[in-house]
Amino acid sequence: MSERFYVTTPIYYPSANLTIGNAYTTVIADSLARWHRMLGEDVLFLTGSDEHGQKLQQAAEAQGVSPQAYVDYMVNHDIKPLWDRYNVRYDRFIRTTDDFHQKAVQDIFQKLYDKGDIYLGKYSGHYCVPCEAYWTDSQLVDGMCPDCGRPVQEMTEECYFFKLSNYADRLTQYYEDHPDFIQPAARMKEMLNNFIKPGLEDLALSRTSFSWGIQVPFDPKHVVYVWLDALTNYITALGYPEETEDFKTYWPADLHLVGKDIIRFHTIIWPITLMALGLPLPQQVFGHGWLLVDGDKMSKSKGNVQDPYVLADIFGVDAIRYFLLREIQFGQDGNFSGEALINRINSDLVNDLGNLLSRSLAMFEQNFPKGFPEEREAGDFDQDLLDQAQTSFDQASAYLHALKISSALNSIWDLIRRANKYIDETQPWVLAKEEGHKARLAAVLYHLVDVLRRLSLMIAPFMPETAEAIDAQLAIARPDRQANSQGLSWAEAGQAGLYPINHPAARGDALFPRIKMDETLTRMEKAAKDKQKSRDQQKAEDFAQLAKAGA
Ligand code: MSP
Repeated sequence: MSERFYVTTPIYYPSANLTIGNAYTTVIADSLARWHRMLGEDVLFLTGSDEHGQKLQQAAEAQGVSPQAYVDYMVNHDIKPLWDRYNVRYDRFIRTTDDFHQKAVQDIFQKLYDKGDIYLGKYSGHYCVPCEAYWTDSQLVDGMCPDCGRPVQEMTEECYFFKLSNYADRLTQYYEDHPDFIQPAARMKEMLNNFIKPGLEDLALSRTSFSWGIQVPFDPKHVVYVWLDALTNYITALGYPEETEDFKTYWPADLHLVGKDIIRFHTIIWPITLMALGLPLPQQVFGHGWLLVDGDKMSKSKGNVQDPYVLADIFGVDAIRYFLLREIQFGQDGNFSGEALINRINSDLVNDLGNLLSRSLAMFEQNFPKGFPEEREAGDFDQDLLDQAQTSFDQASAYLHALKISSALNSIWDLIRRANKYIDETQPWVLAKEEGHKARLAAVLYHLVDVLRRLSLMIAPFMPETAEAIDAQLAIARPDRQANSQGLSWAEAGQAGLYPINHPAARGDALFPRIKMDETLTRMEKAAKDKQKSRDQQKAEDFAQLAKAGA
């Protein structure tokens, strides 16, 4: 495994409020970044915002403010606070309105032009404003945008083109030589059959119909196509075109994590841009599936948008993070429903994990208020439990390495279930009542507490607050977890017998309260409506004030 890990999320449009679907991508990236940090790797986790284009210009106009004031507001009131709320610990946040980025994009455009990969021509076609994408006749579905199903506009404009067709053979060859470049693998076939084999059309790379974008350096009535602007963030954030230390250290990226709707941009336009610039390609582009609500795409007009703030307020951030990571097979579409969420919380978090902690610590505190004694007596089922701890750790490692996140969590839960069974098998409450079993009781409870110590390390990348809460109850400090450079934390999760003796625990509240189904579903619905209203209201007031101030 490489010593460094550079992972990116897409950069988000600061146009509509982000949904739990957007948070899905970021929570996955954050969990992977945290896991790699625990392995002791040098991690760079990049996210950001994609701030140019007609859609944003129009959104700003609708609010009566400048595009810059609009995106500033949305980035600072929606995107960044959401990542803070979800404990998404990114290392860098790039905005495509950052000066260094704009200059770098102009430099890239110039380089491609000087090389002869860009030429001036005329474009007419069907343009989808929300998706910022042109479509050909054959790509339209019932005359509508094939991605979002909305109407398209006929547009003709003078425009600079990118000769993608020059690179079609090289790209096909690259796919063949790097079968892991696109994951899940089926998506590579989709790209080949739907876009590359039918003949790659040259790409319209500039616009003249609106002005909110990065100007083409030698022809400023054109602004650079948002997708070129956006995709290059992955290298401009490292300092490209300068040969910076960051660039040398982190490029090519290990993983671009994207939703399946934007995989086409990341596996055709982006690699070709890199080829044209003479740069190496990222190791992997992973296209995850859609988070659906009751089988349908989330949209404001359907009124089925799940607001991530509301969910976090009701259930806690870690419960939502866990649900997203566990419920959905990474790579496939997954369904979000209140029922499924509540069932998961009650079974996996309340019954399995929460009970294990509270039962174990209650007996520990009651029987050994000063901590575990030296003298402990081995017995039946111990080895089985310890073996499962090792197996869970090994399996979780392997699954995470293969980006099978749900399976990794399931392996960790195998240990939780095994530990609960161990309690039933060893019956510590009986040992506590009868004379002469103190040493056996000490061993049983020690194993449980030590397993909890290992579990808190294993779940930390996915549920950072819960891991801290468990540590607090076990009364162990892990100052190295946040800024681990030694790789100790993760290695520790694989080692038995590290819980200190003569050390009392500090039992606290239940980790997760049990959720009542009907009552909570009603509360969710009401809270979502209230929140939507209050946010819309707040936004309208804030923008009115900004407009008044001439922003
Ligand atoms: N700005 C572009 C990305 C440019 S990357 C160089 C963009 N932004 S977005 O805000 O519309 O979407 C960001 C990410 O959220 C995408 O990966 C998209 O697939 C993902 N999702 C948005 N809704 C989603 C679901 N309902 N489910 C899963 N992912 C979803 O695209």
